[in-house]
Amino acid sequence: MMTEDGENANFWSGRFEKPPHQLFQQLNASITFDWRLAPYDIQGSIAHARMLSDIGVLTIEEFGEIEMGLGQIMAEIAQGQFDFQLADEDIHTAVEKRLIEIAGDVGKKLHTARSRNDQVATGLALFVRDQARQHFSDLVVLQEALLEQAEAAGEAVLPGYTHLQRAQPVLLAHHLLAYFEMFGRDCGRFLRVIEATAAMPLGAGALAGVNYPVKREQVASELGFTHPGANSIDDVSNRDFALDYLAAAASMSIHLSRLAAELILWSSQEFGFVEIADEFTSGSSIMPQKKNPDACELMRAKAARVAANHQGLISLMAGLPLAYNKDMQEDKIYVFDTTDILLLVIPVAAEMTRSLKFDAARMRAAAEASFALATDVADYLVTRGVAFRDAHRIVGRLVKKCIGENRLLKDLSIGELQAESPRFDQGYYDAVDLEAALARKQSYGGTAPERVRAQLEAAAARLAGLRQAAEELREA
Ligand code: ARG
Repeated sequence: MMTEDGENANFWSGRFEKPPHQLFQQLNASITFDWRLAPYDIQGSIAHARMLSDIGVLTIEEFGEIEMGLGQIMAEIAQGQFDFQLADEDIHTAVEKRLIEIAGDVGKKLHTARSRNDQVATGLALFVRDQARQHFSDLVVLQEALLEQAEAAGEAVLPGYTHLQRAQPVLLAHHLLAYFEMFGRDCGRFLRVIEATAAMPLGAGALAGVNYPVKREQVASELGFTHPGANSIDDVSNRDFALDYLAAAASMSIHLSRLAAELILWSSQEFGFVEIADEFTSGSSIMPQKKNPDACELMRAKAARVAANHQGLISLMAGLPLAYNKDMQEDKIYVFDTTDILLLVIPVAAEMTRSLKFDAARMRAAAEASFALATDVADYLVTRGVAFRDAHRIVGRLVKKCIGENRLLKDLSIGELQAESPRFDQGYYDAVDLEAALARKQSYGGTAPERVRAQLEAAAARLAGLRQAAEELREA
């Protein structure tokens, strides 16, 4: 239970005559949100205390008592039995006060050679690293779902769009694999976030370093950092890893929002390309016929908040003088909010993707009932000796004629074609044949079924590598 019973109980109360105003206490406290750092804070404290015993600041026995006390606190928090108090300010103070309650005076030695400034930066870096690992592995699951759908799509064809106008036919598998690429890049982004947390802040003290022969390398290695930070002032003022995390999350959310937006369109009656399973849609309280793509709409909406969180931390950090400033306490609000969103939306996207039922006939009809092969006709005329620009104009006139007469290109007779250009011959009908047109898109990365099969194979191989990487991250 959070109480507002402040008393003059702060660790820093020695210099003060009056306790904090109750309103200031509310403003100052971060315990309402930073309790989430508890496991990381405790992990950091154990490593710090172990090192203190190595350098003789604590005896082995004292370290043992501190370690046991911290273990008990970890259990209390996990079981929801920890009594968080607003007067404790933040999780660091709350844990330390409880340690003193449990272990007695020895607990008062834990804060030797450290500051909350290096402590909080360390806890947050550990938190961000953990979350980046989790998002990486959730993204691999999403990629699996996309690849499964792409493999199941066979040679299903739909119109590809530019400007949301039917442009050229593409394979559904090809289209789905575009998302596979995006989320693959996001995996790379989260790996780089993990790299951004390589330097350990602990040991920087308040900002200047500490008056003890601390073994920072040892603590860094126990906590899974690559090395201690090289500059204590930077160590306590750096939040780049959090910014990188929020930036990676924002890019990823853009991808999710685009997938969501397409599924919203595609599941409309106007498109009718796909049905999203009941489990990820909802009905209307008034219109009995409705099946709304709410999961997709909310996935799309979350992108706004994730992007805003990135912008929020940029604005917070910009212009702050070195080193630590209390402003930075609010960094966690942006980070935690983004974490909660990602922990939910990536798995939702994966499960929903698995649930999709595509309507191949409907997609094919849309691809056929369009002028999506006009470029192919122009390219065909090029093979008959017409310059591409002239061919473009000739085909444009044919399209205009068809629109006026409510016909399709493939319905035009040789006579009608030759009225526009004498170069037309029977080869035209191959140019406007859907399968033949797909097969011609032979360029690397193109939509020819053969090329898409190669993309599917490459994707499966990359996925195996990503699964392995996710496994290694889990064990790290
Ligand atoms: N709760 C603070 C934060 O999250 C911890 C660091 C406070 N340091 C200080 N010197 N007041 O940033």
